[in-house]
Amino acid sequence: MAQVREHWGSRLGLILAMAGNAVGLGNFLRFPTQAADNGGGAFMIPYMIAMLIIAIPLMWTEWAIGRYGGAKGHGTTPAIFQLLWKNPISKYIGALGLFVPFIVLCYYIYIESWTLGYSVFSLLGLLPHPDPNLSQGQFLKPFQEFLENYTRPSVTAYVFFLLTVAFNAYILYRGIKGGIEKFAKVAMPTLFILAFALMVRVILIETPNGTAVQGLDFLWHPDFSQLSNPKVWLAAAGQVFFTLSLGFGAIITYASYIKKDDDIVASGLASASLNELAEVILGGSIAIPAAVAFFGVMNATAVAHSGAFNLAFVSLPAIFSNLTGGNFLGFIWFFLLFFAGATSSVAISMPIIAFLEDEFGLSRKTAVTVTVIFTFLVAQIPIFMPKALDEMDFWAGTFFVVLFAFLEVIVFFWFFGGKRAWEEINRGALFKVPRVYYYILKYVTPVSLLIILSAWTISSL
Ligand code: PHE
Repeated sequence: MAQVREHWGSRLGLILAMAGNAVGLGNFLRFPTQAADNGGGAFMIPYMIAMLIIAIPLMWTEWAIGRYGGAKGHGTTPAIFQLLWKNPISKYIGALGLFVPFIVLCYYIYIESWTLGYSVFSLLGLLPHPDPNLSQGQFLKPFQEFLENYTRPSVTAYVFFLLTVAFNAYILYRGIKGGIEKFAKVAMPTLFILAFALMVRVILIETPNGTAVQGLDFLWHPDFSQLSNPKVWLAAAGQVFFTLSLGFGAIITYASYIKKDDDIVASGLASASLNELAEVILGGSIAIPAAVAFFGVMNATAVAHSGAFNLAFVSLPAIFSNLTGGNFLGFIWFFLLFFAGATSSVAISMPIIAFLEDEFGLSRKTAVTVTVIFTFLVAQIPIFMPKALDEMDFWAGTFFVVLFAFLEVIVFFWFFGGKRAWEEINRGALFKVPRVYYYILKYVTPVSLLIILSAWTISSL
């Protein structure tokens, strides 16, 4: 039933699309709040370790699994797992690779639509402009109320939600090469330029309360006492998963459109490096430093602890409202988040679309239409029940991704076979992966994932 599969048009296009998949709201919002909450600079130690023994090897695994399946006409895990492991249960395990991205898509795209709405509001000067001499609480209040009214949900929020869904649908209709790749080639450079410009502006903020440089120091000052806290390690592992889009099935589907012998080792590293640049350098140098410069270190701690949404939709627009050209700065901030979100939401839409095409023989257009309709319907749950959003985020976006990643390495390195898996990863690579990663993938990664899963289960009991 498999039709002739599309391929990415160029290597650069593939790397940018994969980087677009990874670079998302997580880089600019989740990372700084997680780092600030979990020991600042000390967070980077477990972060780097998790990157080296879990994230990078898993990333190569997902690229390899996807390319392997694509060559046989399948882009999603129910069928690919069946190819890798001839056991009747493998397709049910693989079904997680469809279920997880779809659930995440249904709330992610809604939050993405807020960034579009807010970018338009900023540009038109429609966000509040309170007197900066008010106390911090009074100053932030109109922004909090604005967000509450917007997400109630309001008619405007709904209109921007529809526009965002339509925009995603348009890109997806145009396919891998003509839609996703083309969009990534525009959106990724734009995003990097906007983020870089905003970072430079933020670093220059100085108020009687503090400076952005103090903010960088606040974020990076290592508090080593935090390293004995297992919570910090779990947070670091959770962050590397989320930011690199691991365990969502999204990388696998993108990788299924790679040609059989194209290098995945170097392309994978290149896209992960772009993600880290966007996360650690750009993501780390905007929101928190701005908050510290504006509110002072003491108050900024409270701001950082108030969560990623507050930081993005309350504190930052409040800070920008007080700077010259603030409307435009706010626009840059929200628009770059919108591009970051859109290049990710098309990625989490692809598993379901590819499934309908590969396994049911639907045309691209029909598959996209069906997916968009279902996304629209299921998204009503997080739109009208904000509590459900948190539940969906925890189960699909946090717990199941780790479980799925664990099953993925086991299926690939143990059932498909370590030697074959290793050859799959390295096929076509100019520089082979260092041998030590064979043992990491076979033993260290699965054991670490098992520890994370157990720790989560125990801590949530
Ligand atoms: N990596 C994205 C982020 O940092 C989130 C995401 C996960 C996107 C899975 C696509 C697939 O925001």
